[in-house]
This record gives sequence, structure tokens and C-alpha cells, in this order.
Amino acid sequence: MRVLVTGGCGFIGAHQVVALLDADHEVTVLDDLSNASTRSLEGIENITGRRPRFVEGDVRDRAVLDDAITGCDAVIHFAARKHVPESSRHALDYHDVNLAGLTALLDVARRHGVFDLVHSSSGSIYGDGFDTPIGEDADPRPTNPYSRTKLFGERILGDVAASDPRWRITALRYFNPAGAHPSGLIGEDPTGPPSNLLPILLRVAAGDRALVEIAGDDFPTPDGTGVRDYVHVVDVADAHLRALETLRSGFRAINIGRGHPVSVLEMIDAVERATGVRLPRRVGPRRPGDVGFLVADPSRAEALGIRATRDLDQICTDGWRWWCRATDQRRRMEAS
Ligand code: WQD
Repeated sequence: MRVLVTGGCGFIGAHQVVALLDADHEVTVLDDLSNASTRSLEGIENITGRRPRFVEGDVRDRAVLDDAITGCDAVIHFAARKHVPESSRHALDYHDVNLAGLTALLDVARRHGVFDLVHSSSGSIYGDGFDTPIGEDADPRPTNPYSRTKLFGERILGDVAASDPRWRITALRYFNPAGAHPSGLIGEDPTGPPSNLLPILLRVAAGDRALVEIAGDDFPTPDGTGVRDYVHVVDVADAHLRALETLRSGFRAINIGRGHPVSVLEMIDAVERATGVRLPRRVGPRRPGDVGFLVADPSRAEALGIRATRDLDQICTDGWRWWCRATDQRRRMEAS
């Protein structure tokens, strides 16, 4: 199969391209490099021995999409803005990229006769007020613009799938993808300072950042800090492969998580175990739009044969291997 991977240079996208190439699929990557770089294509080539076709451009641009999708049979759609606090400051940008990008992609895909789509959605659409693992039938109540774009995206996909039985669409609601490929050759590599917890902790461990600011310790959780469901990025990529293989007519949504609650303090402990470094921390205010508890009930995924097998220690160890390698490489380039 030839698969178009939008956002294929990004964190999850690059791991997805590796999983597809390893499974002998052909891949075209579309990316505007706004929060990624072509370094990930080198990493992909070093891991798989193959370089995907690359088209640089914006997912809202129909001419670019037209070029990228030519010859493809299916799409995995990652290209989107994804930072919860930033989405409150740049709401229009988030709605434009995440929703106008999605409708442009659907329009061009339909014109090319491509009706198979795996879409990147988010566990954050469920919102606040939970204290046990969340199933797909829970009523979504997103608390920030990012999460609303993901919920509205699913609604669009549901309507589009209902309008024509040729569409076969699965949205994967990821909880907190983290870690890196075990080779250490690809990982989370944002163009600016990281916003997600694990990359921040790894930078503190490496001495690139002085301390971690815990974003609130007054949530209604056992230790007061935010509880999330961290899932290894390679398990997330494998989940997409399985979702692609099991697509069926219509729209469905599936949680992608491990079902294991991990607080910020427990994540700090896990990174200390993986790195052997004590991490300085201080408690700061909550971030806008943040919720206390977001953990998946993964039973629907498991019924389809999608199971996250890698544990928290592996997430941290693989993330650390990647970050040490990326740091070494950067220092060598700076010295030369
Ligand atoms: C995790 C926890 C923070 C930074 C992510 C993605 C989003 C979506 C949902 C998939 C929270 C705390 C963080 C810091 C902290 N994913 N924290 N200090 O907000 O759950 O959102 O998952 O679709 O794309 O961004 O992840 O890693 O930012 O935060 O205490 O400096 O760490 O409050 O409890 P979040 P995160």
C-alpha cells in the first residue's frame, strides 16, 4: 500500500513512517516543517534503509495536497498544531490549521478516490471531571481550543463518513505519546522549546534546563499533580498500522493509551530512575486549559488487537537515549 503521512517529519509522524516502511508499505511524507525538520528523514533512512518521498508544504494548500496524494491508497493525518496552553493564545490559528487542513485533505482525497483515513485525535477531548479511566462513549467536554479542534474534527469526519459509504475512517484518540524509537535515531525534536512534560524533564536531566516547574499541585488527584496516561510512541505507531489494516466503512473513534495513571511527580521519579540524575523542581501555577486526570480505558483498542506493551521505564529510557544522542550531535555540529 502507498500511504500519505501528513506531518510525517514530526514526533509521532516519523515513528509512523518507520513502522510503515518496516511493514513494507510505500510512504509519501507531507510536512511544512513548522515544528519539525528534515533531520527526521535522515533518522528514518538510517533505521529502515529507505527514504520516503517528501513533499514540503502546508496541509491547507490543495495544490500541495494534490501533488502529495497522487498514487496513494490511504492517508494517516497528523499535520496539526498540538500545544494545549498555546491554543488558548492562538485559537484562530489552531482552528484554521487543524480544521481547514482536515477539510482540504478530505476534499482532495475524495477527488483522488482515496477514502481510507486514520486520523490523529486526542484523549484531551474528554475534558475535566474524571477520576477513573475514560471510555470512548463518555461525553466529551473539551477545556481548551486545541481539544475543541480535535472534537470538531471528529464531528466533521463522522458527517463525511455518513454521507458516502466509501469512506473508511478511524480516529485514534491518543492520550500522552512519549518516548522515542529504541535506536535513538528519531525522537521528539520540536523547532522551539519543548512544551510536553517528558522532553522538558530530559532537558533538565541533561543540564540544558535548570529545573522543572510543576504546573499545579492542587488538582483533585492523589498527590495533587496532573495525572496522565503516557504511551510509548512506537506503540502509538503500531496502533495506526493495526487501525489501517482493520478500517471499515463509516467512522469510529478508539482510545490509544495504556490505562495506567501517572502523576507529574511519578513521571519525575521515572526519569530520575532512567537517567540517574536528581531533577530540581518547583511548584508553579496551573497552565490554562489543563485538567487533573486523563487516563484511557483501552478496552476497545484491545478488542481490535491494539495493545500498548511498552512500560513507563521503557518510555523514559528510550526518550533519554534519543535526547543524549541528539545533544551529542548538536554539540559536535556547534564545535565544527
Ligand atoms: C503532561 C502533564 C501538565 C509541563 C498533551 C499534548 C496534546 C494531547 C494531549 C494528544 C500535565 C504537566 C507539563 C511542565 C508540568 N495529546 N506539566 N510542567 O497537557 O496532557 O497534553 O496530551 O493528542 O497534544 O500536548 O501534556 O506533556 O504538556 O503535560 O507539570 O513544564 O505534565 O500540567 O499534567 P498534556 P503535557
